[in-house]
Amino acid sequence: NKVVLAFSGGLDTSVILKWLQTTYECEVVTFTADLGQGEELEPARAKAELLGVKQIYIDDLREEFVRDYVFPMFRANAIYEGTYLLGTSIARPLIAKRQIEIAKEVGADAVAHGATGKGNDQVRFELGYYALKPDIHVISPWREWDLTSRTKLIEFAEQHQIPIPRDKRGEAPFSQDANLLHISSEGNILEDPWQEADLDLILTRIVKPEDAPDKPTEITIQFEKGDPVAIDGKKLSPAALLTELNRLGGENGIGILDIVENRFIGMKSRGVYETPGGTVLFHARRAMESITLERGAMHQKDELMPRYAELLYNGFWFAPEREMLQAAIDHASLRVNGEVRLKLYKGNVMITGRRSPNSLYDEAIVTFEDDAGAYDQRDAEGFIKLNALRLRLLGRQ
Ligand code: ARG
Ligand code: SIN
Repeated sequence: NKVVLAFSGGLDTSVILKWLQTTYECEVVTFTADLGQGEELEPARAKAELLGVKQIYIDDLREEFVRDYVFPMFRANAIYEGTYLLGTSIARPLIAKRQIEIAKEVGADAVAHGATGKGNDQVRFELGYYALKPDIHVISPWREWDLTSRTKLIEFAEQHQIPIPRDKRGEAPFSQDANLLHISSEGNILEDPWQEADLDLILTRIVKPEDAPDKPTEITIQFEKGDPVAIDGKKLSPAALLTELNRLGGENGIGILDIVENRFIGMKSRGVYETPGGTVLFHARRAMESITLERGAMHQKDELMPRYAELLYNGFWFAPEREMLQAAIDHASLRVNGEVRLKLYKGNVMITGRRSPNSLYDEAIVTFEDDAGAYDQRDAEGFIKLNALRLRLLGRQ
């Protein structure tokens, strides 16, 4: 009887590990994913060993994460509720997928995670588990145990000699989730949505815009089939490219977001997210699409986007309708080739140029100068008159 635990090495999942061993009396296999959270993962191994774990998986999933999850999502220009770039949402399906693979490898019939019973992550993990292994047994300690608060969790940790992390103030830290795309902070002093977030305490990847350099940073990003492939002409792997955009965006104060969002289960929550590279990429991609996508295709993508974003937010990555939308989005993206030049400056992403072998932009037609017969301005009169017909009929009354 084995269970595979998604183990970050942090306080919550360390307590869960101990709790599973004592409550379920089962053998726990730990799985720690390197998704570019920017933390050492060897301490997670040491902690698991200390707690007597015999099978410890630590997998570097950074390239797969960016190539097969982050970039496909960006092709959709996905944003939830107008602002959130879905940095946590997009990581959960990959963790679930690898966790199920490991469960099959080690012959485990159960998996466990450290998400609470109040949030989105429980849904995202478990929809992934059930989609990939319908008969899997799911253990969700936060929904089962009597550690009903963080205070009780910390007491349990103290009793079992599990180290308790402290933040810069020496207090219990925020609830954070990090990967190459973003880091989120929730809870703690952020629970009052009117209380200004203390960015000096929170930010780990982005300098405050007011502290960013007084001179803009200019870069160009090259795209192939909707995905970024190079920066300033230098080819980079997906993970390396996002890492570099994080550095460039972070130095220039780009990608800080403070929002209240609607969780799938029905409550509102407040979070502060850092998405430096993703924010740069989002704006650059749209600029690339602006000259390569035909209007009908672009507007159709824009209509599909909120639905796509909601599916991801709610954890339906493995659902057939997400795959259908993805196929349409990927088809449109085949034309999205070329390069975009931009300036990064004190929290702003400013597009300064775009060009493409597939450009639909026609200077000869759009020019304010003499177009030598490329376009007949008289055609517009009939176009407008017929469009106005119904308004005129209505206006007569
Ligand atoms: N509210 C964000 C989301 O639902 C971030 C969740 C962060 N998760 C965490 N375990 N700290 O995508
Ligand atoms: C959690 O509840 O574990 C984190 C927040 C969320 O999943 O929405």
